[in-house]
Amino acid sequence: MMFRQLYDAASSTYTYLLADPTTREAVLIDPVFEQHARDASLLRELGLTLLASVDTHCHADHVTGAWLMHAALGSRIGLSPAYGAANVDLPLAHGDLIRFGSHALRVATTPGHTDGCLTYVLDDGVMAFTGDALLIRAAGRTDFQHGDPARLYQSIQQQIFTLRDTCQVWPAHDYEGRTCSSVGEEKAFNPRIGGGAKVEDFVGYMRNMALPHPKQIDIALPANMRSGCPEDGQYPHKITWGPVTRSYAGVPEIDPTWVATHRDALTLIDVRSPDELHGELSSLFDARNIPLDALRDRLGEIADDRPIVTVCQTGKRSAMAAQILTKAGRSRVANAAGGMVRWRALGLPS
Ligand SMILES: [Fe+2]
Repeated sequence: MMFRQLYDAASSTYTYLLADPTTREAVLIDPVFEQHARDASLLRELGLTLLASVDTHCHADHVTGAWLMHAALGSRIGLSPAYGAANVDLPLAHGDLIRFGSHALRVATTPGHTDGCLTYVLDDGVMAFTGDALLIRAAGRTDFQHGDPARLYQSIQQQIFTLRDTCQVWPAHDYEGRTCSSVGEEKAFNPRIGGGAKVEDFVGYMRNMALPHPKQIDIALPANMRSGCPEDGQYPHKITWGPVTRSYAGVPEIDPTWVATHRDALTLIDVRSPDELHGELSSLFDARNIPLDALRDRLGEIADDRPIVTVCQTGKRSAMAAQILTKAGRSRVANAAGGMVRWRALGLPS
């Protein structure tokens, strides 16, 4: 199975990508709104088809990226129906199976942090995605969103601690840099519910945490009740000047074939050194040559009246150039993916 743990630093949230390497079918667990471009580019670069985004619960600390993925890729939106959130087209109940290729996530209801919390158990207990029910050496707070510490104690004991000890535990958050645990480890060392803790111990611990009110709750909860759909119902930040995609490396890229047919509407900047322009790859006759080493000093020479496309030999130096231009405040910038090598391979005119 293909597996990636992704991280949102602003909310300390983990997003998980699971995919079948043969069928290329994928599932995302707990995507974050602000990380949509990153996650979508990873799916694209790995050649995966996203079947569904499934949230472990209605989050109070960040907005889900589920609706954005649905709008961009047509994927389904999975959540417990307990919240009554809009746009959910995959309501998940205890025992449901979310299949992708030859793999499946089994849905286990684990309420207590909220009343709709779900844990997703992969392939009969290889991994458990526990959301905020069971965290690494911790458990999700139970003091809002219908939280109930006694209920959470029962959920963890009956649905998570009954999995085999080697089952890996992948939570929705960690604030201490920890990434993964196991059922056996948490049964032994979790300071709230491990080591034979009884329900009174757990409830007493959870009732006395005195945590501050979550900063994002007033924004996150209403947005998550729409599955992360913006208030205006529109897919945000769509680039309109051309078919620009953001690579997983964070570079805005554009298809060279589109560039070749729209050259009159673009400013082309070739960032190779002048002696490279006469080699076997030759040059684009209408490109301005500003070598990468000089770009920062010569930004004033580049007009802002048209979108800017950067090009070099293989698209590496021009990727750096696109980032320099973006950091300098140019909003319509993209790198010609693959550079002149790809340009020539596609037989485009130079
Ligand atoms: Fe939560």
